[in-house]
Amino acid sequence: MSYNFPVTRTTHPKEKPDQKALGFGRYFTDHMFMMDYDEGQGWHDGRIIPHEPITIEPASCVLHYAQMMFEGMKAYKTPDGKVQLFRPDMNAARLNRTNDRMCIPHLDQEIFFAAIRQLIEVDSDWIPSEPGTALYIRPFIFGDEVSFSVLPAKHYRFIVILCPVGSYYAANDGGLSATRIYVEDEYIRAAVGGTGFAKCGGNYAGGMAASAKAMTKDCKDVLWLDAVEHKYVEEIGTSNAFFMIGDEVITAPLMGTILPGITRDSVIQLLKKWGVKISERRLTIDEVVEASKNGTLKEVFASGTAAVISPIGCLYYMGEDHQVADGKVGPVAQKLYDTLYGIQTGSIKDDMGWTVQL
Ligand code: COI
Repeated sequence: MSYNFPVTRTTHPKEKPDQKALGFGRYFTDHMFMMDYDEGQGWHDGRIIPHEPITIEPASCVLHYAQMMFEGMKAYKTPDGKVQLFRPDMNAARLNRTNDRMCIPHLDQEIFFAAIRQLIEVDSDWIPSEPGTALYIRPFIFGDEVSFSVLPAKHYRFIVILCPVGSYYAANDGGLSATRIYVEDEYIRAAVGGTGFAKCGGNYAGGMAASAKAMTKDCKDVLWLDAVEHKYVEEIGTSNAFFMIGDEVITAPLMGTILPGITRDSVIQLLKKWGVKISERRLTIDEVVEASKNGTLKEVFASGTAAVISPIGCLYYMGEDHQVADGKVGPVAQKLYDTLYGIQTGSIKDDMGWTVQL
């Protein structure tokens, strides 16, 4: 089935922001996509309307019990003016895996792609082109049935909003810079059987106390340890984590506690292609500290849609700084960033088959 949603254009187009000072999630485009779900009827009434505040009944279940999910993806303008997405099929598949966990009804992939494609077409003049920038796409779904029963809602809304963004962590000059990260030894993010693998708002709300604590120590974010023993490294803030010790790059295995990142999967595939030893295995924070001390900790970096590749120069753990090599951006992180962003923006040929032109 092919979808063509009705469009109501804004009568007040906004001024475009300075592409060199976009930040992340500060500016939103002129339009958004909205669709409703009713039990018995399914998803209906998809439409593109001006991006503006929505009304929500205060007793809507999402405001109390957080039955919601979101995705994050980006659109890029290529040097020849085409617009492309990066592995959007993986976002669509992950969306429905999150929906299963959150008891939210499945969304047909064709609706998902049609909504994004048409919305980007309407707001295509918002896609930035400065180095390091992209158009961030935020699809999300929430239950808005008016009910205090702790049960899956019978009514949902699916919304897609767009924002031109710079980099999530580093300065918005298209370059990379190494950050300082707090190793969180008190709070936990996710346990096996929980919602760690799903993209639901509660995972992020639950992490804020730790991030706030990290910031008091001049750290940009936290490195989460496992929930049971507080021993194994898992994610960095809202991103997946990679550690290069000697000639081996290590990332936590997908055991239900970490997000199956699309950038994570792309990093693994690129490293394999380049002949770099990459292991998905458990790694203790003690091994990382030891490697920092004996000089074998070559690189640490985070990967994510928002973070792209964000190098880490120092880990603050139990009151002590543990430097990663010389504390600067490492060559593997730099090469991964250049390759991924190059493929995403079309300045490097995509021989992985990852990009989809709109
Ligand atoms: C993303 O990388 O798309 C995310 O969802 C992280 C977000 C919390 C900024």
